[in-house]
Amino acid sequence: MAYSRYLLNELLAAYGREHSRYGGGFENRTRFLTEVVQKIHAYVPSLCLSVRLSGFDGIPFPYGFGFAKDSPLDIDLTELIVVIRRLLLLGCSLFNVTAGNPRQKPHLGRPYDRRLPGSQFPDEHPLIGVKRLLNITKGLQKHFPNVPFVGTGYSWLRQFFPYVGAAVIENNEASMIGLGRSSFAYPDVPRDLVEQGYMDVNKVCLTCSRCSELLRNGSHSGCVTRDKEIYEKEYRKIKVNE
Ligand SMILES: Cc1cc2nc3c(=O)[nH]c(=O)nc-3n(C[C@H](O)[C@H](O)[C@H](O)COP(=O)(O)O)c2cc1C
Ligand code: SF4
Repeated sequence: MAYSRYLLNELLAAYGREHSRYGGGFENRTRFLTEVVQKIHAYVPSLCLSVRLSGFDGIPFPYGFGFAKDSPLDIDLTELIVVIRRLLLLGCSLFNVTAGNPRQKPHLGRPYDRRLPGSQFPDEHPLIGVKRLLNITKGLQKHFPNVPFVGTGYSWLRQFFPYVGAAVIENNEASMIGLGRSSFAYPDVPRDLVEQGYMDVNKVCLTCSRCSELLRNGSHSGCVTRDKEIYEKEYRKIKVNE
């Protein structure tokens, strides 16, 4: 079965790649990632190395990473924890953990209200997806209380994300909160939160997936909904060519 993914993530799940230095057992599946990190660290030792990993990719064992082998629908962070421990020893100092594979199951990594044309219609409410992402980071942050983890997947929560983020930080379930689509739609959000203490509901990301459509079609990506002057034009071009 062929799944197009990202090489580093794909090799973590290369159980079936036998007779290869980069597949089969845990050592081999994690070799490419650790070699890349080692080489970057050797080349630029002063760099603060941060790594983004997929906690589980939504593709059941033996093709995916992060699933319990005997219960292929349950997330199992055991291997990921060992990977992170090794990356720490190699000099990594900041982590972000997402989920899913944007090609097969984009809703796992970025819960949305409007699906990308041609992609699967999720069989779960977006809030379940948000909760899953928060829980993965929580599990890791609790396991490594002194290591900074950046929380991810908050944009679907719109103007309410700061409240959820504040509770997450308060409970030591992440060390900081990262924003993906929200930073396209509403780049001023940190300033508004500091200066006025709340977000403007008219500027929030609507999780419409149009920025992802731009990306998928090879255009520069940005917010089609909130940054119309630039990105609506781009979006119309890809729709005409579709
Ligand atoms: C247009 C677009 C491009 C993205 N590109 C990347 C990428 O290159 N690498 C990556 O790890 N995540 C990428 N992401 C995922 C985001 O980093 C983020 O994890 C995801 O959108 C969920 O966070 P959010 O709910 O704040 O949007 C992208 C997301 C979007 C919408
Ligand atoms: S196009 Fe804008 S509103 Fe739609 S998902 Fe992307 S950032 Fe959010």
